[in-house]
Amino acid sequence: MDSMIKDIALAPSGHQKIAWVKEHMPLLNILNERYGGKKIFDGLNMVVTIHLEAKTAYLAQTLKNCGANVVVTGSNPLSTQDDVAAALADSGVTVFATHACTQEEYDLYLSKALDTKPALIIDDGGDLVNMLHSTRRELIPNLIGGSEETTTGVHRLKALNEQGKLAFPMIAVNDAYCKYLFDNRYGTGQSSWDGIMRTTNLVVAGKTVVVAGYGWCGKGVAMRAKGLGANVIVTEIDPIKGIEAVFDGFRVMPMAEAAKYGDFFVTVTGCKDVITKEHFPLMKDGAVLSNAGHFDVEINVKDLEAMTVEAPYEVRKNITTYTMPNGHKLNLLGEGRLVNLACGDGHPAEVMDLSFAMQFLAMKYLLEHKGELKNNLYVLPEELNTEIAALKLEAMGYGIDTLTPEQYAYLHAE
Ligand code: NAI
Repeated sequence: MDSMIKDIALAPSGHQKIAWVKEHMPLLNILNERYGGKKIFDGLNMVVTIHLEAKTAYLAQTLKNCGANVVVTGSNPLSTQDDVAAALADSGVTVFATHACTQEEYDLYLSKALDTKPALIIDDGGDLVNMLHSTRRELIPNLIGGSEETTTGVHRLKALNEQGKLAFPMIAVNDAYCKYLFDNRYGTGQSSWDGIMRTTNLVVAGKTVVVAGYGWCGKGVAMRAKGLGANVIVTEIDPIKGIEAVFDGFRVMPMAEAAKYGDFFVTVTGCKDVITKEHFPLMKDGAVLSNAGHFDVEINVKDLEAMTVEAPYEVRKNITTYTMPNGHKLNLLGEGRLVNLACGDGHPAEVMDLSFAMQFLAMKYLLEHKGELKNNLYVLPEELNTEIAALKLEAMGYGIDTLTPEQYAYLHAE
């Protein structure tokens, strides 16, 4: 099947990016070596719907090297990198993805990928699973199962499962320790600031940063803002997370209050309408608004568009300026889509190494348990987390102690 990409001539730069991440993804290298020769996914059709940048490309190549017929689509219109998509297609993987595609094109890409009748799928955000449950139900009998990469996708799966509508086994890779502890916290923490800083080229030290949501991602974003010298305010809806943020040294207040103080805003809640028309008029002139949550619904861009008294304009690449009735200019990054991917290269390769090793093992687990799993939402077994963590620690050059038999007996005594 022919790929649908922007331009195959962009491949050389994409190959360079993929070569760089390979150097920093030791777990995927180990999995390649361990299972590549055995072709454990021999002949299986797989659809991978994940933000299409270099780390995702390397995951797809790893699955292909292990025998799978892999088709890749992006999982968000702005996160696809056209040079990486070209390199991936050039390496023999079918790709349906273009940067800044329309919603219609995005849906077409998912649908074309599903035309290959996958046995296994990897989803990021739930759009692929949603399509399978709505317009492509005829493909469900072919499916062994799938896995989900992010919190928002897992929320959607939980909702389906609670209604008894989940039609095939899914693994919530996001909910594995080795995923959210590192990817959501350190990955989103670092890469969101990378995206904000490279896009604005503004100083963070001494500024006030408002982080909406103090979950795994929000903790990372707030921690890194503090490290950059910012004064950090957290907004929450969960009183426990609110206390946690206070004890971590942050000010906590409602958005209606925080809106007045922020120089930078980062929403990362997985919820909608976190910043709306109620808040924009309160904001300082020059405030920078960004979102790191999965969907572009956290900052209400329609409200911004309705309120602006001048036509929005691109003041700098990936920054759109809106002018409020009081003359204040508000700067929105990456159209309110996830800032680390729309305005950057996503998480560091070393972090995605853990997440994608979990994805690989999820695929292997589904295959090994074909026919045994119910139409249910599963987490990866604990021992796989421990195995991955041990390999990663070793690859990073760190050692830890092991229990002596006496210590083991002491800890496990009744
Ligand atoms: P989480 O469930 O651990 O945390 C979300 C937090 O937001 C919770 O503490 C919740 O109480 C709070 N919250 C919900 N609605 C709120 C509101 N209206 N105002 C203030 N706080 C609110 O979720 P996690 O893992 O931190 O993920 C958050 C979002 O980020 C999800 O959409 C997820 O898919 C996405 N994500 C993005 C990544 C990226 O690369 N940018 C990476 C991983 C996850």
